Amino acid sequence: MKEQLQEIKKRAEKEIKSTDEFAKLKEIQVKYLGKKGEITQVLRSMGKLSKEDRPFIGKLANQVKDEITEIIDKRKEYLEDLEKDKRYISERIDVTLPGIKPVISQLHPLTLIMNEIKEIFLGMGFTIADGPEIETDYYNFEALNIPKEHPARDMQDSFYITEEILLRTHTSPVQIRTMERVAPEVPLRIIAPGKVYRRDDDATHSPMFHQVEGFAVDKEISMGDLKGTLLTFARQMFGKDLQIRLRPSFFPFTEPSAEVDISCVICRGDGCRVCGQTGWMEILGAGMIHPRVLEISGYDPEKVTGYAFGMGVERIAMLKYSMDDLRLFFTNDLRMLEQF
Ligand code: PHE
Repeated sequence: MKEQLQEIKKRAEKEIKSTDEFAKLKEIQVKYLGKKGEITQVLRSMGKLSKEDRPFIGKLANQVKDEITEIIDKRKEYLEDLEKDKRYISERIDVTLPGIKPVISQLHPLTLIMNEIKEIFLGMGFTIADGPEIETDYYNFEALNIPKEHPARDMQDSFYITEEILLRTHTSPVQIRTMERVAPEVPLRIIAPGKVYRRDDDATHSPMFHQVEGFAVDKEISMGDLKGTLLTFARQMFGKDLQIRLRPSFFPFTEPSAEVDISCVICRGDGCRVCGQTGWMEILGAGMIHPRVLEISGYDPEKVTGYAFGMGVERIAMLKYSMDDLRLFFTNDLRMLEQF
């Protein structure tokens, strides 16, 4: 039995040292040391031995078992090292290789236009104010003289979060929020750029779009101030030769109210397909702030007056860049975005 054990050890050692695979190693381990392995068989058959031989062979068998285990462990370690070395070589990074240049984009056309609009008004002494996109019914409608049952609400159907909280449908709530904060101090010259939301979706409407609100409150502000400000804006934005015109309109929060047109940026007023042969293009809504809105916000309409206007940034950008589909701004097509 002693010879048998030594022979088993020799054989095992040879097999272990000639294998390069972990799975094979496992197989060898089972073959010799497993429940039905060769060493186990030897230990089982020890009953046949004489009482004197038993402890000796038992000890030897266990010793051989330990030795084989050790040889297997060593081989495993060796194979692991080998694998590590292989990985180090294959994953080595050559830091001297030239890098991949990251794509640096430019500003989105809407951001460019927004910045341009801000610059123009900052140049005229306006400051920038901000308001929340999630707005209360009070600031979005009620305080702007649009009570619950007013038909003007139909023009601005919104996304409601609760009955009293909604995504703002225009930037006009910033008028109220700012006036509340500053009243009764004058003068006030503010623009409020930002995102607004409506339940609209077609080539010229998106459920999310941008507006810039502008307003001024002071003693003796007139419609002439409004017109002069907007003319200055239009000429800086679209060119010195432009004209603007005000057409009567209606907004619950301004009185009188106007739609403001600029002469067509394509034909400069002669009439063409784009402006429908009229020579004019509508760019914004405006008017004198309604006395009730001034009063609600803390001003005395007997002492001060104000004007307000609100323009759609996408509309301005489309005119400036001669685009016919507003959805292009939001579909992230690089072929379009790279042109700016
Ligand atoms: N808030 C109006 C709209 O979104 C635009 C507007 C602003 C009109 C200010 C008059 C004065 O339709």
